Amino acid sequence: MNKIFITRKITDVGVKLLQDKGYTVDVYGKDRVMSQKELIKTLKKGAYDGVVSLLTDKIDAAVFDAAPSVKIFANYASGFDNIDVVEAKKRGIAVSNAPAPQTSESVAEHALALALALAARIVEADEFMRKGKYKGWDPMLFIGMDVLGKTLGIVGVGRIGGKVAHYASGLGLKVIYTDVARNDEIEKESGAVFCDSVDELLKKADIVSLHVPLMDSTRHLINEARLKMMKPTAFLVNTSRGPVIDEIALTKALKDKTIAGAALDVFEFEPKITPGLAKLPNVILTPHIASASLQTRDEMSEMAANNIIDFFEGRTPTNSVIK
Ligand code: GLV
Repeated sequence: MNKIFITRKITDVGVKLLQDKGYTVDVYGKDRVMSQKELIKTLKKGAYDGVVSLLTDKIDAAVFDAAPSVKIFANYASGFDNIDVVEAKKRGIAVSNAPAPQTSESVAEHALALALALAARIVEADEFMRKGKYKGWDPMLFIGMDVLGKTLGIVGVGRIGGKVAHYASGLGLKVIYTDVARNDEIEKESGAVFCDSVDELLKKADIVSLHVPLMDSTRHLINEARLKMMKPTAFLVNTSRGPVIDEIALTKALKDKTIAGAALDVFEFEPKITPGLAKLPNVILTPHIASASLQTRDEMSEMAANNIIDFFEGRTPTNSVIK
């Protein structure tokens, strides 16, 4: 029977689905990211048929070479930039992702929570309280920004960006967006207005939220020149992938007050953070948890398992990313 390796503990539902099919399931026993060396060693030894990989696992030719028995890598994430899909395709190895429907909900809610926390200065104020600095009501204390009537610029209106547009319009924000093509549905549903370019959007938005996949064309999409196009009062929110922003340029822009603030759930050199960034008061940092609701994690677990089951039962995995 098939032997499946999961590179870190995930919620039980997917594991159970695989076990119910009679598969042997091994899960990496340590509560940390597996190094590629460890992964290679484990796969070499285990003669696995399939792997549930995480976005923190680099799956490339070295892994494929070491594990010729593995026929499918089912990534436990919507993104799959951690896997060399071109190389997998060349070798006839299946690759799937896990774009759980609930992910768009969780990530959109997290992006908005970050935007609201920036505008209302929630994190700075929380820190102030915890440090015992509160000495009584002060009319000038932590003056922030109301979002009502402000302009939210969404870069990328896929499933997640579309949800952000929906909720933002409910909060009374004006929504503008840019993407490779116009999106009639979002324009109708959220009154969103299309911008021809990222540059145009950056110049107009009070809050910018990024929702693009990481590709060559989106790496450092937000760079020093583009940060300078933003309003000095603007906030930048990133729940997509870290390298979409040049983090060193952003750190400088936040220090120099080129923009007012940023909230990041993802980091260019994850899990490392650009030196100096965490010292700045005008940045909010969360540890890549935008999709971390129990409901989303369960759906992801189920999807990854079902992709593996599809494959071994002779069907194309529902979420195959090999074109
Ligand atoms: C999380 O970042 C994902 O890609 O699912």
